[in-house]
Amino acid sequence: MKKITLLLATTALCSGLFAQTTVKLPAPRKDAAMPLYQALQQRASVRDFQTKEISDQTLSDLLWAAVGINREDGRLTAPTAMNTQEIRLYVCRADGAYEYVAKDNSLVKLSAKDVRKDIAGGQGSVADAPVFLVIVSDLNKYRRQDEMSKRFGAIDCGYVSQNICLASVALGLATVPRAGMDEEVLRKELGLQDGQIPMINHPVGYKK
Ligand SMILES: Cc1cc2nc3c(=O)[nH]c(=O)nc-3n(C[C@H](O)[C@H](O)[C@H](O)COP(=O)(O)O)c2cc1C
Repeated sequence: MKKITLLLATTALCSGLFAQTTVKLPAPRKDAAMPLYQALQQRASVRDFQTKEISDQTLSDLLWAAVGINREDGRLTAPTAMNTQEIRLYVCRADGAYEYVAKDNSLVKLSAKDVRKDIAGGQGSVADAPVFLVIVSDLNKYRRQDEMSKRFGAIDCGYVSQNICLASVALGLATVPRAGMDEEVLRKELGLQDGQIPMINHPVGYKK
């Protein structure tokens, strides 16, 4: 009897924790009306943001464009070398840090810490952005971790970064790709392992 009670309590606790730590996003709208060439015309780095929040709907639209699934076989909006799909995308905002899980269209909470200032570092003006996206290359997904896989990882991050740039414009948002960030803090708060390299980040928000 004691064993059953313990099992039930553990199950209840785990499901409670899961409910708390996973945010299901609204289904992404895939119909931002701006023509591609207009988005290309308007793409520009922005480093001054309003503190205005981004809705979960708009965030979902942006994350899908960045590295969401766009085909029935699970392939992505961004190409990856040999379809390795080694890119991990993290969402950092005031209420903590999350990993985007494209197949569930959800955010899995990894930390309650607001790491936006740690990502902004000395570049204070970008710290007002309500969301920072961090693009991580997970080299462990490659059979061999050599110079070629590092090169592929960096190239693949670039595609995701450009998707974020262009989708941000189409969604009325602003961003800048940034290499600067406190990698040590991110490693700790995102639980990154060896071989998982934060390559670039994007403050995203509304232009001041
Ligand atoms: C790989 C890479 C790293 C960058 N790192 C930073 C950065 O740390 N901080 C920053 O303000 N801008 C950064 N940028 C943005 C560039 O400074 C910017 O793209 C460049 O000045 C051209 O301006 P534009 O994006 O408006 O065309 C980076 C861009 C790239 C592609």
